[in-house]
Amino acid sequence: LLLFQSDVAKNEIPFDDEQAGLKNQLVIHFSHVVAENTPKGLAAQKFADIVEQKTEGRIKVLVYPNSVLFSDSEELNAVQAGEVQMIAPSFSKLGQLELLDLPFLFRDDDHLRSVFTGPAGKNLLNRVQSQDLKPLALWSNGFKQVTHREKHLVAPNDFKNERMRIQPSSLIEQQYELLGAKPVPLSFNDVYQSLESQQIDGQENTVSNFYSKRFYKLQKFMTISNHGILGYAVLMNMAFWEKLSSDDQAILLAAMEETTKWNIEQAKKMNEIQLEKLKTSGEVTFYELSGAEKEKWRKALKGVYSKAEQDYGSEIIKEIRNAGK
Ligand code: LMR
Repeated sequence: LLLFQSDVAKNEIPFDDEQAGLKNQLVIHFSHVVAENTPKGLAAQKFADIVEQKTEGRIKVLVYPNSVLFSDSEELNAVQAGEVQMIAPSFSKLGQLELLDLPFLFRDDDHLRSVFTGPAGKNLLNRVQSQDLKPLALWSNGFKQVTHREKHLVAPNDFKNERMRIQPSSLIEQQYELLGAKPVPLSFNDVYQSLESQQIDGQENTVSNFYSKRFYKLQKFMTISNHGILGYAVLMNMAFWEKLSSDDQAILLAAMEETTKWNIEQAKKMNEIQLEKLKTSGEVTFYELSGAEKEKWRKALKGVYSKAEQDYGSEIIKEIRNAGK
C-alpha cells in the first residue's frame, strides 16, 4: 500500500511502485529537508496536487519532507544518481547559485519575484543544468533573520567570536568571517540539536524555518535584518526528464509555473503570519535593524562583493540588481 510521508523510515523509499499500488502510474519521488508546513513543503505538495489533477492521477508526485529520505548533504547525490527524481536544495548548497547569498542583494519581495520568474532567473537556472540535472524553477522562502541564544545581534561588532550556524556556502562563510564571527556549516537537520548542546550560539534563517523547527525554544533573540534571502532550485534527474514524453514535460512545466507563482506569494505570507505568531507567543524578543544599522552591516560586508564579482562576473550580479527596475 501507499506509504504515507510520516511512515517512511529514513532512507526507505517505496521503490517498488507496483507493489505500492501504483501500477501504470508514473511516480516522481520528491525529497526535501524542511517541515511540511513551510513554503517549500507546501509548494512541493501543491505541485503534486496540480500534476495529479492535470493527469487525472496518471503522474503521481510523492513528497518526503523533513529529511526522512536524505539529509541536505545527501540529496544532491541522490537525485543525480536517480535514487529520487526531484529535490529543491537551497541556493547556498549549490555552488553555481551561491551568489544569491550576497548580503542585501534583494530590495524586497517584488524584486525577488522579478528575479525568480524573469530572465535573470532563467540565466541562473541554466547555470545549474548538467548531464544529471534538469532545473525546473526557483522557489522562495523569503528573507533571512539572525537569532542568538542570549542577546540581539545589532552592530557588526556584536558578532565577534559568536559561533553561528550557516548553510554550507563559502559566500555566507566569508560574511560571518568579515563580522569576526565563527561560522559553523551544518546540515539543516542538525541545527536544533547543535543549538541545544550550545555547540553554536546563533544562526540565520527565515522565520518560517525558525518557527516550524521550533528553534524559538532555544533562540530567544531575533534581529529582523532581512540581510539575505533563502531560495531553492527545483531540480529533476535529467535521465528521468529525458524519458518523459514531450506532452508530459509540458504538463510538468505548466504545473511548475503555477506552483512557483503561488509559492512566492505564499512564502511572503507565511513568514509574516508566523512572525506575528512568534510575537504574540512571547517566546522571543525582537529587534528591528534601522536603515543606519543596516548600512553598518553593508559596509562591514562589502568585501564579499568584490570576491563574488571575481568568481561569478559582475554581469550576472548587475542583471539581478536591475531586475524589476
Ligand atoms: C537550511 O539549511 O537552513 C535551509 O536551506 C533549509 C531549507 O531547505 O530551507
